[in-house]
Amino acid sequence: MRECVGIESRYRRNRKAWEPHLEQSRNLMLDAAGRCAERDSVLIFGAGLLHDIPLADLLGMFRRVILADLLFMAPARQAAQREERIELVTLDVTASLPSLAEGNITLTQPTAYLDDPSISLVISASVLSQLFVVPNAYLESSFGQSDAESEALGQALVRSHLAYLGAFECPVALIADEAHIIRDRTGAETATASALQDVPLPPGGRSWDWDICPLGEIDRDHSVVHRVRGYAGFPKP
Ligand SMILES: C[S@@+](CC[C@H](N)C(=O)[O-])C[C@H]1O[C@@H](n2cnc3c(N)ncnc32)[C@H](O)[C@@H]1O
Repeated sequence: MRECVGIESRYRRNRKAWEPHLEQSRNLMLDAAGRCAERDSVLIFGAGLLHDIPLADLLGMFRRVILADLLFMAPARQAAQREERIELVTLDVTASLPSLAEGNITLTQPTAYLDDPSISLVISASVLSQLFVVPNAYLESSFGQSDAESEALGQALVRSHLAYLGAFECPVALIADEAHIIRDRTGAETATASALQDVPLPPGGRSWDWDICPLGEIDRDHSVVHRVRGYAGFPKP
């Protein structure tokens, strides 16, 4: 909840700077939707904040739009009240949070919706780099998890989500932060770090920069950019 409220208030402060990224994300989702031969249900992981979801367009293309997230903010709840073809599903896409909460780092491979023939398209919407953030912070503070263990768990959660997406028979689209980049006042890159614990994404897709923290958001001398990669057709293994 704290993470989501944080993202929401950062969005409100930087709405203009975020718009090109959100537009790229919406266009990619519509590109993926346009390629679908079947248009029953579209299932979107990480849709709780709704910023990057072209909801009206997707409702025009699919019978049902399933928004799946750990929690939903007011805009998603209100949208679902207004339109019965929008379904909100509280879902942990890692399928592992209950055991992680007990300090058990053995992951469960998610299976939700894999056998649902009504799913025509799956979209993973900027959730991949988030999957390990709260679990690692919690395991470090509550169970003394080391940095190396956090890195290994992060990698396992990223790989598990990619394998989950790869297990769907229907088309899949993925939008994910790939790198976090710090820039100085001149725009020169001063530091770059993997957003995915160094797990590589498959080749292909398109890449763009999300101006997530423009100058002034963190301090006067630095800005932060997330390099994002999106696949309208995520390559299956
Ligand atoms: C950066 S936000 C995604 C951005 C979003 N698509 C938007 O509206 O701009 C990450 C989302 O992932 C969700 N999330 C994080 N861990 C999750 C998990 N284990 N299962 C499902 N959703 C999760 C968060 O609740 C949050 O809504």
